[in-house]
Amino acid sequence: AAPGPLAGRHALVTAGPTHEPIDPVRYLANRSSGRQGYDIATALAALGARVTLVSGPVDLPAPAGVTLHRVETARQMLAACRDALPCDIAVCAAAVADWHVAGEATGKIKKTAGAPPPVLTLVPNPDILAELSTPGASRPALVIGFAAETDTVAQHATAKRQRKGCDWIVANDVRPETGIMGGTENEITLITSDGAEHWPRMTKQAVATHLADRIAAFFTPASSS
Ligand code: C5P
Repeated sequence: AAPGPLAGRHALVTAGPTHEPIDPVRYLANRSSGRQGYDIATALAALGARVTLVSGPVDLPAPAGVTLHRVETARQMLAACRDALPCDIAVCAAAVADWHVAGEATGKIKKTAGAPPPVLTLVPNPDILAELSTPGASRPALVIGFAAETDTVAQHATAKRQRKGCDWIVANDVRPETGIMGGTENEITLITSDGAEHWPRMTKQAVATHLADRIAAFFTPASSS
């Protein structure tokens, strides 16, 4: 690994959507380009961390210097994250589907003229962020989640931080008019135990660099003389 303030640290990053199959040709998914997570993986590696990136299906090249595990479903993403432990830092940037389809069809579901459309039964997916945040011997020292909100962003994200048990939440405003979803820029509020800190709009790459710097500062607090 490269030298840097995070040398000797292992970071786990989740990114992208998950695809939850309905049958061999159809799936349920969330919108996610994977860009922010890939940029964070790259920024952490640049500071010397060993990075494991667990990614759902995205259209992005593998970042250099990062170990990439490609998965499709939330259940596979959780398994890949468990396999990656132990780690010092976990950043859950993936847009994980909240449900998967019960009794996924092994053959393509046929449209039969006159027959009613199929009814899908949904089953909750595991919450990867909540599991990684659970206190225990293998809990990473720093667990960071994301919150995509469309209103009262800081308030919802602060509640989410408590609910999930993570240390920090990176909250972003995903109202369609912001152009953030699928775009190259992001405007975030960082929620920590100290409160909410709004960052100006910047590229997702810049958000990643600043976040990686904050992570490095967490592990190397300024010495008080
Ligand atoms: O629950 P919600 O989707 O609003 O929370 C978002 C945060 O939780 C993100 O960090 C996301 O990666 C993580 N998450 C997860 N597993 C899920 C759902 C969300 O890791 N099943």
